[in-house]
Amino acid sequence: MKSQILTAIEQFQIDTDLGLSSSPAYLRPKYFYDEEGSKIFQEIMNMPEYYLTDAEIEIFELNSKKIIEHISLTYDEILLLELGSGDGIKTEIFIKSCIESQLQLKYIPIDISSDILDELKAKFKINHPEIEIDARVGDYFQVLESLKQESEYKNVPKLVLFLGSNVGNFSNQETNQFIEHLKNILDPKDFFLIGFDLKKSPSVILPAYDDPRGITRRFNFNHLLRINRELNGNFDINKFDHHVSYDPLSGEVKSYLLANTNSTVVIGSIDKVFNFNKWDSIYMECSRKYSISDMEKVASDHGFQVLENYFDRNQYFCNSLWIRK
Ligand code: TRP
Repeated sequence: MKSQILTAIEQFQIDTDLGLSSSPAYLRPKYFYDEEGSKIFQEIMNMPEYYLTDAEIEIFELNSKKIIEHISLTYDEILLLELGSGDGIKTEIFIKSCIESQLQLKYIPIDISSDILDELKAKFKINHPEIEIDARVGDYFQVLESLKQESEYKNVPKLVLFLGSNVGNFSNQETNQFIEHLKNILDPKDFFLIGFDLKKSPSVILPAYDDPRGITRRFNFNHLLRINRELNGNFDINKFDHHVSYDPLSGEVKSYLLANTNSTVVIGSIDKVFNFNKWDSIYMECSRKYSISDMEKVASDHGFQVLENYFDRNQYFCNSLWIRK
């Protein structure tokens, strides 16, 4: 009998089929990040138009000590858990500050990419050999649930980091489920530091998702090229335009690929043909921007109290420190 557990490629086939068969069509953002997509994503993070990275680095440079003060009021050691650590550049600034403030910590970066965690561990071994690191590869909540069972982690105060506007890529329903799940895993008086990109002028927001050199465009097209590579598809990317919109009411930045002509796409490995009429869209991703009150509502709806909000000098971004009530 065939195993019920799907391989990654079978899941990719099912999700692609479902998304392209829907009306309007969509593709799931998690498939952006194959090897090529992850490389392009690093390029995005380094673009001058992508203000988010610099803003968050500045927030840590300006405010790490203030964040630590909240924790040091009650504790002299902390378990630092990071959801989606990536290469840990921002966290390193915070950790340096913890060392200076003599707040003891153990760092548990969690990421789905084992390569990036190896890179992070190697970097910390050189820069901060005194910091104990216990990197975990996997799904955030599976890792958090399994940590909870380990006696070493019981009764230790925790600070969970969720940086880089990752929450912006969730739908409202996903955000609610995520924060509720986190609340249930944390203990009362645990801390949570979460990044929100703020509502601001569209002239600042739009180039971060549609830059003049076409890096974000390449990132979106790579999704179609991945379908060609892995699912034996024949998308012609010249037949689609990259389009980004910002809605100041909802705060949603949405990216689409729009058919600039009629076309037929064959995806061999699922034996399907998809027809696109001129100006049909494929919805690729949402990145939501928040107001302070939007942010504070998320906290209070799910049993968290906002302790303090930290901003960069331009007030483009906010890292909000919450405590589990
Ligand atoms: N989560 C980040 C954001 O919404 C990074 C990101 C995800 C991104 N997908 C992207 C940035 C596509 C640019 C384009 O900003």
